[in-house]
Amino acid sequence: MKHVSENRDAPAQPPPWAGPVASSERAFPLDLPGFLTREQHRIHLVGVAGSGMSGIAALLIKLGHTVSGSDNVSTMETDRLQRLGLRFHEQHRPEDADTADLIVFSSAIKGDNPILVCARSYGKPVVRRAEALAAIMRGKRGIVIAGMHGKTTTSAMTAHVLREGGLHPCHYVGAEIPILGTNAHWDSRGEYFVAEGDESDGTIALFQPEHTVILNIEEEHLDFYADLGAIEKVFAQLITQTTGKVFYNIDDKNAVRVCRSLARGISYGFADEADYRAIDIRLKDFGSMFRVSRRGQDLGEAVLNVPGQHNVHNALGVIALASELGVTFEKISKSLAKFEHARRRFEIKYHSPRFLLVDDYGHHPTEIRATLKAAKSVGRKRVLTMFQPHRYSRTKALRKEFGRAFDDADRVVVTDVYGSNEAPIPGVTGQMIVEEVVAHGHRGASYEPRLQWVHCAVGNMLESGDLVLSLGAGNIHEQLSALAADLVIAEKLKAIVGENGEVRLYEPLSKHTTLRVGGPAQFWVEPRNEKVFAELIRFCGDENFPLFVMGRGSNLLVRDGGIRGVVVHPCGGEFDKIEVNGAEITAGAGAKLKEVAYAGKAAGIGGLEWLEGIPGTVGGGLRMNAGAMGAQTFENVVRVRYLDANGEAHTRTRDELEVYYRNFPLLEKNFAVSAVFRGQSAPLEEIVRKLEASQEKRRTSQPAAKSAGCIFKNPDSCPAGKLVDELGLKNSSVGKARVSEVHGNFIVNDGGATAVEMLELIEKIKATALAKRGIELETEVQIVGEPG
Ligand code: EPU
Repeated sequence: MKHVSENRDAPAQPPPWAGPVASSERAFPLDLPGFLTREQHRIHLVGVAGSGMSGIAALLIKLGHTVSGSDNVSTMETDRLQRLGLRFHEQHRPEDADTADLIVFSSAIKGDNPILVCARSYGKPVVRRAEALAAIMRGKRGIVIAGMHGKTTTSAMTAHVLREGGLHPCHYVGAEIPILGTNAHWDSRGEYFVAEGDESDGTIALFQPEHTVILNIEEEHLDFYADLGAIEKVFAQLITQTTGKVFYNIDDKNAVRVCRSLARGISYGFADEADYRAIDIRLKDFGSMFRVSRRGQDLGEAVLNVPGQHNVHNALGVIALASELGVTFEKISKSLAKFEHARRRFEIKYHSPRFLLVDDYGHHPTEIRATLKAAKSVGRKRVLTMFQPHRYSRTKALRKEFGRAFDDADRVVVTDVYGSNEAPIPGVTGQMIVEEVVAHGHRGASYEPRLQWVHCAVGNMLESGDLVLSLGAGNIHEQLSALAADLVIAEKLKAIVGENGEVRLYEPLSKHTTLRVGGPAQFWVEPRNEKVFAELIRFCGDENFPLFVMGRGSNLLVRDGGIRGVVVHPCGGEFDKIEVNGAEITAGAGAKLKEVAYAGKAAGIGGLEWLEGIPGTVGGGLRMNAGAMGAQTFENVVRVRYLDANGEAHTRTRDELEVYYRNFPLLEKNFAVSAVFRGQSAPLEEIVRKLEASQEKRRTSQPAAKSAGCIFKNPDSCPAGKLVDELGLKNSSVGKARVSEVHGNFIVNDGGATAVEMLELIEKIKATALAKRGIELETEVQIVGEPG
């Protein structure tokens, strides 16, 4: 292996890994840079699947070492590394310490890891990831990109610009960078090594680079540092150890404080006195344009295809560095224009004329503010944000700053903290952040503790023209991906319904059931006419999506997990139409049964008054053969029009139909469109009298509270209500679900009841009826959906 070091690695002071922040595992004298870059050994990496560790593994393999690694999980990264030669074990086996000459471990690995324990007992050399990286870097001329925010983007940008400038740099950055190919790369042809320096655990002070870029310095990682002073000290140490130039952001007051007095300092930013300065900045949708001047001399125009003012700063740092390394501005600006974002840095997950979904890793208040500003500048109607706080310690320490970070978001849904490797701190939750955001005066913040429901909460708010942003360093991006996948389908559904309907994602079915219980419908679609309904049926058939039709939801108990697939709610347009023709009334499936009764009254048609007491729609009444006042739907229905599973329309007369007590099986696999009801001409006073009798019956024998009507079918032996009453179960409850004291066959929702509570109460009643009276109660209410 060719080695390119010019022996700059003979420090006057003790080696950095012997310094105050270095590992305590130092039972051996070791020239680590020489060991890693000039010799070849057997090296084992503990926690190799981590994003930082996998980069080290790739570099070590490229340097010719025999590399093995262990982790509790295997990932796409470990698969890729195995193809490059990594020997991987999905468990930490002590014998791996035995066979290795050196152990490198991730900061996520605890001291009692069996490989570390074993290595220590053998006196094997053990080093931390950052120590290994710092040592590898010393085989080259190091460039460290340091700072609290923008490191990954800027280090990737630097590696890209130097690569395009023909310098063949090696690099190590903390995320997958599509434009660079991989997160770590060794190129024996080049002299430079660009690395993202990690300040989070102080190991940044291990580097002895030739050049350093200081992006910004701020209070962060307060789990590790006492205060800003302690953070600045570590940066100051890095600067002292930098042999060449220190590039710093002149618009960041802490960076200025640390770097101002340096003779080797080169400043960049927007301020007049910056050595490299951006002027005439024009931010556009996904990027910006600006002119660059060096100490008053115009260098030219830069175009950036990553958004936000913060990235103008990042690019200026890269321009300053690359210029000082001798890359021409023409080359720099050309390669900057080609630069694409790192994964999870304003990464566009979905883009259509109606919606834009963007994911960003931002997790510190400053990053959040910058990313939201960039999101706002894109010019969409609203910015909806899903935020997952990262680490309990940060959430606690910066709660006030988080409260002020979301001003540029129209809506914010905050979920619970992604702990990383931290133990929870009591009281430190997403709720705490929401309280801070609200206290700061934000009107659109809400809390969703269950991560897997966050995409539903945000998705249900979606309106055409919205930008949705997921923010956080944990796994919140998976929620945005889930939303993006469903949005693709929702857009197809929208294309089907066009102006003749509505499509909404994750509509809470508690809004559409009279019981006010139920999780969301994955896709909620309201067609306005038969043609659109038929197309929806065909689409669901072709795509193999479950389709469920919902009327007024008056006889429905939807479980807390909601309904997967397409929920069709025919309403408005043709579906609400009621037409009278002689003694016949034709009503659309979405019309209320009550309105059929009143249309009868208006036209002097009697015999339909009892429909007044049924809270459902025509479609629901047909499906259930609903009944009241001793009558049932099919006593009045003479024709039914329906769509079959292929979306074909059919009309059947009453005598062609099979109908049972509370059941009309045809509609199990077909979908009602309309029905013709027949009454008979009757004097108005008689109709009014019957309507009033029905109202009176309802008023006196049924609860006014939220319910799904009768829960059980009436068994032959005794009406269910009477039975429940006799069993003494009235008023018994589970949570907020309670048996009505008015009527034993009604369960009422006292406010916020869950389906789980409802179902538990139903089971309790059934069990009691069976045990005490030997009666098997059968539910009349339809129970559907997924468990919560
Ligand atoms: N009863 C009691 N205690 C009670 C409830 C009822 O003793 O807590 C007695 C009543 O006094 C009556 C008998 O049980 O002697 C039957 O009760 P009710 O007249 O209220 O009728 P129901 O059979 O319970 C049926 C329908 C209702 C409809 C009413 C009114 C069924 C399962 N229920 O109730 O429909 O509103 O008649 O006509 O057929 C529905 O379908 O969701 C529904 C509520």
